Amino acid sequence: MNLISLIQQRYSCRKFLPLPVEEEKIVQCIEAARLAPSACNAQPWKFVVVNEINLKQRLVDEATSGIYKFSKFISQAPVIIVVIADLPSFLSKVGSLIRDVRFYLLDIGIACEHIVLQATELGLGTCYVGWFSEKGVRKVLDIPKKYKIPLLICMGYPDGSYKNSDFIRRRAGSDTRKDLKEILSFNKFV
Ligand SMILES: Cc1cc2nc3c(=O)[nH]c(=O)nc-3n(C[C@H](O)[C@H](O)[C@H](O)COP(=O)(O)O)c2cc1C
Repeated sequence: MNLISLIQQRYSCRKFLPLPVEEEKIVQCIEAARLAPSACNAQPWKFVVVNEINLKQRLVDEATSGIYKFSKFISQAPVIIVVIADLPSFLSKVGSLIRDVRFYLLDIGIACEHIVLQATELGLGTCYVGWFSEKGVRKVLDIPKKYKIPLLICMGYPDGSYKNSDFIRRRAGSDTRKDLKEILSFNKFV
């Protein structure tokens, strides 16, 4: 598949089949993340794959408690990737301070998109989840406080045909994108 087709095919999947995901496919996705670029090559990431059913249930319960209950759909996903921000390197930190840009979050965003696109190519559905209890996830996986947990990615085989998912997506209004002319200009700021 060429890249633009892959990008067009990806969508936020919030309904999964109750099928396990082959471990080699998960590893291939993390390998794609490993090759991502990062500021000063800091590689400020770690990924914990949660696919053991009891642990996943505990994780979901804690992650989606209280105000985070809107993320309960993640309980259907057979795999949850916990994205952990490792301490950026000294150089990257200094650069971030001077520029007032959190390079480590950019790095992680890029690495995560590698995961998601690789998963799409393998026929897997994914959804980024930023709305969850970081405290709850930290507790279940015993992640030290010095690490941030910016994101979860849920992953699995999508439930329904692409058309069905496309319908759900349209209903949620999430297929709408700004027009190119709103976001692109050549040689001047508009
Ligand atoms: C950083 C980030 C955090 C997100 N957090 C959530 C979330 O907590 N819950 C959710 O249902 N979708 C979440 N999404 C998915 C977006 O809602 C979705 O990407 C957007 O609406 C566009 O739809 P599409 O991915 O189907 O193209 C998140 C996406 C990103 C990039």
